[in-house]
Amino acid sequence: MRAPIEIAPSILAADFAALGQAVQAVGNGGADLIHFDVMDGRFVPNISIGLPVLESLRKATRLPLDVHLMIESPDRWVDAFADAGANSLIVHQEGNFHLERLLASIRHRKLGVGVAINPGTPVGTLTEVLPEVDVVLVMSVNPGFGGQKFLPNALHKMRRLRELREQHGYKYRIQVDGGVAMDTVADITRAGGEILVVGTCVFHEPDPAEAVKKLRQAGTEALAQRV
Ligand code: DX5
Ligand code: ZN
Repeated sequence: MRAPIEIAPSILAADFAALGQAVQAVGNGGADLIHFDVMDGRFVPNISIGLPVLESLRKATRLPLDVHLMIESPDRWVDAFADAGANSLIVHQEGNFHLERLLASIRHRKLGVGVAINPGTPVGTLTEVLPEVDVVLVMSVNPGFGGQKFLPNALHKMRRLRELREQHGYKYRIQVDGGVAMDTVADITRAGGEILVVGTCVFHEPDPAEAVKKLRQAGTEALAQRV
C-alpha cells in the first residue's frame, strides 16, 4: 500500500558535484522516489542530465528513479532510459502526436507510465489515456527550471483529476511538479496532490533529510483536515 503522500525530491536542484550524497541524504529523510529531470534544450529552454548520470545514480540508490522526459521525440528514448535503470517514465502530452503508442511502449518495458501536462494544457486533453496511466503529472510551473513560483491553476486540475478518478474508477496517482514548498504543500495536498516533486525546497535547505520529513508531515496533516 502506497503512502497517502509521497515525496519525490528533484535532483535538478541538487549539487551535481555531490549527487550520490544528495540522494543518500533525502533517502535518509524518507524520500519515496527520486525525480530525475531530463531536458534537451528544445522541448524546454534548458539542458540538464541524461543516460550516464542515470546509470551512475542507479548504482548509488535503491530508491525508485522517476524519470521526467522534457525532450522532443521521447519515443526514441524509452528503451535507453529503461535499460539505464528508470523505474517510471513521465512523458508530456504536448508535442507527442502518437501519445497512446508512446505510453504503450513504456508499459511494454514494464515501467511506471506517467503523462504530464503543462500549465497551459487542459486536463481534458488526457481523456483517452487516463484509463492506462499510473501517474498524471500536473506541472505547476512552466517546465525547464527549478526554483519557480507555484502556479495556482494546478489546484483545480488536481481536483478535476480526483473527480475523474472517482467517477471512472481509474488507478492513477496525482503527481505535482514545480514550486512545491512549505507554503504551498497544504493547498496542494487538499486539492489532491499525492506525489510531491520537491527540488529547491529540499536541496537548498541545510538539512535535506529534515526538509523531506517536514514536507511529508505538513502534507499529511493537511490531508487529514480535508473534508
Ligand atoms: C521543472 C522540473 C521540476 C523542478 C522542480 O521543469 O520538471 O521537477 O526541478 O523544482 P522546484 O521544486 O524547485 O520547483
Ligand atoms: Zn520534473
